[in-house]
Amino acid sequence: MIKPDTIQTIFEASRVEEVIGDFVSLKKRGANYLGLCPFHNEKTPSFSVSPSKGIYKCFGCGKAGNSVKFIMEHEHYSYPEALKWLAKKYNIEVEEEQMTDEMQQEFDERESMFALNAFISKYFSNNLFESSEGKSVGLSYLKERGFLESTIKKFELGYAIDNWNDYSEYAEKNAYKKEIIVKTGLGIEKDDRLIDRFRGRVMFPIHNLTGKVIGFGGRILSSTKTAAKYLNSPESEIYIKSKVLYGIYFARTAIVKQDNCYLVEGYTDVISMHQNGIENVVASSGTSLTVDQIKLIKRFTPNITILYDGDPAGIKASFRGIDLILAQGMNVKIVLFPEGEDPDSFARSHRTTEINDYITTQAKDFISFKTSLLLEETKGDPNARTRLIKEIVQTISHIPDGIGRTVFIQECSTIMNVPEQTLMNQLNKLLRDNYRNKTSSPDISDIPVEEERQNRGEQLRFDPLELKPLEDEVLKLMLNFGKSNFILELDPESSEEEELNVIDFVLEELKNDNIEFTSEINNKILSELRKLNSGAEYNQAEFINNSDSEISNAVINLITDQYELSQNWEKNKIFVKSGADLLKDYVMSTVLSLKSKHLARRLRRITEDMKNTTDEAELSLLQMEYHELKKISALIDNELERTFNH
Ligand code: CTP
Ligand code: MN
Repeated sequence: MIKPDTIQTIFEASRVEEVIGDFVSLKKRGANYLGLCPFHNEKTPSFSVSPSKGIYKCFGCGKAGNSVKFIMEHEHYSYPEALKWLAKKYNIEVEEEQMTDEMQQEFDERESMFALNAFISKYFSNNLFESSEGKSVGLSYLKERGFLESTIKKFELGYAIDNWNDYSEYAEKNAYKKEIIVKTGLGIEKDDRLIDRFRGRVMFPIHNLTGKVIGFGGRILSSTKTAAKYLNSPESEIYIKSKVLYGIYFARTAIVKQDNCYLVEGYTDVISMHQNGIENVVASSGTSLTVDQIKLIKRFTPNITILYDGDPAGIKASFRGIDLILAQGMNVKIVLFPEGEDPDSFARSHRTTEINDYITTQAKDFISFKTSLLLEETKGDPNARTRLIKEIVQTISHIPDGIGRTVFIQECSTIMNVPEQTLMNQLNKLLRDNYRNKTSSPDISDIPVEEERQNRGEQLRFDPLELKPLEDEVLKLMLNFGKSNFILELDPESSEEEELNVIDFVLEELKNDNIEFTSEINNKILSELRKLNSGAEYNQAEFINNSDSEISNAVINLITDQYELSQNWEKNKIFVKSGADLLKDYVMSTVLSLKSKHLARRLRRITEDMKNTTDEAELSLLQMEYHELKKISALIDNELERTFNH
């Protein structure tokens, strides 16, 4: 745990242009630096670094952040890893926080579990190569399967002797506590005695991202036994199955290099592929894919290729995985192996180039995959065909990006021979349903959709009364101008004036009108801004480098917004020079626009209610409210017009 003071020092020392300069060649352009974006391929530079703000932003791919974020993204480091990298660069001694007794104990326990796993893993491997049972049973099996000694050593495969308490006893003799042996799942406690969980099995250690052994899988050798083919360590503090992918430690660099991750089912699939020179492979180890596993891959690449053997169970299981991957905004392709083959057997019986060729030629996107599988059985059955189409559109609806959705709708339309517009309507309906299920705010969900817009074929219904863009504007205003002052005339007749600052003024206005933002992250930023009490200085860097990375990312995106903001940056200078008059207009028009939009939404809802009610009394109440709001709305619109035209 790095001390907050140290983190502060690291942030203060890190010069964004120096940090990025280690990886990207930067040229000075005015106050900023410009270079080729390291996160996407480009020939003309659109990657901009602002030393004064301590941030970078690529106007091509949209990636943005501060020094720490850059190191995290570029080097695929975690937050503490990135901080340590920067500390090293700037010769800062990293002080770790004093742990409480409880934390220390937990930490010690985890460390002991790692230590025991490493110790036993070595022991298993020793058994395999040195003990007579290990050699005759374990090693001969692995060699028969075609695994080379170098492969066996690389994956640290081993053998557990067929005995009741072989390694448990060995661990205890070497001063490992019984409690730890049980916690790792290696030993099972029975009547005060320890029994080995794994007996007479070939052992596959499971490594985490940093190469530490967190658990084991053990394969039984004799097929006569009724025991499960594979036995795995139970979940523990250090082995959380839903977050682990077998092989990730050995695959991480190759995944980045190939910019693709192959996903297979089993231990042996991973190992055989590696042995054949294909290293960007991980396994979900027989369980169905989880969101955490997908996010783990996403740290290294946005592309996943699922390699499945052709059995129907596996295929059905892949469907859910595909939706999850798409929902993470990632790209997914599927390769089906020939009947009776899995990646393991295929890798053993083919050359590297043949495997690569097979994967590249067979890889299908999810639409061709689903249709090629199901088209045969839906032929001549219109109902089944409809179901298939709906299922595909359902899958498309998981894609967060609108352009991506459109592309797949077009493809589906071609393959299934259905008009694009029909699919689009179905998609929009699903998106709406998803949206409604997600948002709890009745303010948004109770508003009827404008069907005619959707019929014009816009992929996502655009609501002219959507609040988010204006809320963004309001935040940009506060984040960029902080506590800059402007003068407001209270009464034009008596030329009474008041000096105000942007943040305090906007917060006050929002409070007076009871306005909360509709997006969660915007509300988070707003409450951070509210924490600055009226006397406090505003420091933009504190927001850019907020310890909550969600806030930091959102703030950076807001203050670097390409279109609106480049102009506002310019304006900023003008404001300072020209006595804050333009700033006043900017503040007033933004705040008024937000208010006006809120009113318009309330009016829209009342209109709807008026249409729907049959109750005379209620109707007249609604009408009264409508006229009240209309009056206020007219006042605001007047004010807005005045602001713009003077
Ligand atoms: N698996 C498991 N428990 C089982 C069966 C399977 O945990 N009883 C997991 C293992 O991670 C295994 C994966 O599911 O690697 C795939 O299962 P399967 O295809 O049956 O095993 P293979 O990897 O093909 O193993 P082998 O070739 O040795 O039979
Ligand atoms: Mn197999």
